[in-house]
Amino acid sequence: MSDYETIIAEVHDRVGLIRLNRPRAFNALNSQLMRELTDALAAFDADEDIGAIVITGSERVFAAGADIKEMSTATPVDMLTSGYIDLFDRIRQVSKPIVAAVSGFALGGGFELAMTCDMIVASESAQFGQPEINLGIIPGAGGTQRLTRTVGKYLAMEIVLNDRRLTAEEAARFGLVNRVVPVERYLDEAMELAQQLAARAPIALRIAKESVNKALETPLSEGLAYERRVFYLLFATEDQKEGMDAFMHKRKAEWKGK
Ligand code: CAA
Repeated sequence: MSDYETIIAEVHDRVGLIRLNRPRAFNALNSQLMRELTDALAAFDADEDIGAIVITGSERVFAAGADIKEMSTATPVDMLTSGYIDLFDRIRQVSKPIVAAVSGFALGGGFELAMTCDMIVASESAQFGQPEINLGIIPGAGGTQRLTRTVGKYLAMEIVLNDRRLTAEEAARFGLVNRVVPVERYLDEAMELAQQLAARAPIALRIAKESVNKALETPLSEGLAYERRVFYLLFATEDQKEGMDAFMHKRKAEWKGK
């Protein structure tokens, strides 16, 4: 884990913390950073001692988007064959909950990265936007899709077509972030949230994440049928027996992840 150059990966109890770390480039997400980030996420996902993950930047910047200097001379074929955008799909495939701890700028791919996470804790200084239109392009890592599903057509149009920026308070009002806290608290708050998640029944947590994500991709009848099937499936786990026995005997459940 110590071999990374553009991120810092740490473990705090059962939480894996990843800090984006290209301060001189405002944490621009170049291909090395995206590769290291997705490798670290995959390693945390495979580690039984980790229950949840936090991704953060610095107080000043979460991430200022894809690396414009790296992309500026690219051809469509370069963009296709580099697999750069596909790396965002690898984040989506992580089975454990990911909390984004966002302070300062979350722009372009930085905002898209935050939206790929499962929950967002923002500092009061956070600023969200999709400024790609200023570069003669559009968001390419989910910005037109995830944003629109969350805030609706009209606001999404303004953000994507006219570079409307959102303050942390606005983002909270439009359902884009879970909570807004003072700058000095945002990382602690995200870590506490992740510790709570990491203490929960691991298989139920994983299935719960999958099921909520399913709601964004399927018609209601299909989503309900999916939910029912995985709900039944959880009765095959030792954790279901343990959780219900603990409730009935008024004791704390001890999860096995089995
Ligand atoms: N890519 C590469 N370098 C970047 C960068 C980016 N996205 N954002 C900032 N930097 C670099 C700057 O080039 C500058 O480096 P130098 O000192 O070597 O010139 C350094 O970071 C500091 O930036 P500024 O001098 O511009 O600092 P500022 O405080 O005046 O402004 C900012 C900060 C508002 C974040 C501004 O840098 C900015 O607007 N950045 C670009 C944001 C953007 O357009 N993002 C979208 C990228 S495209 C994308 O993300 C596509 C996608 O969907 C995946």
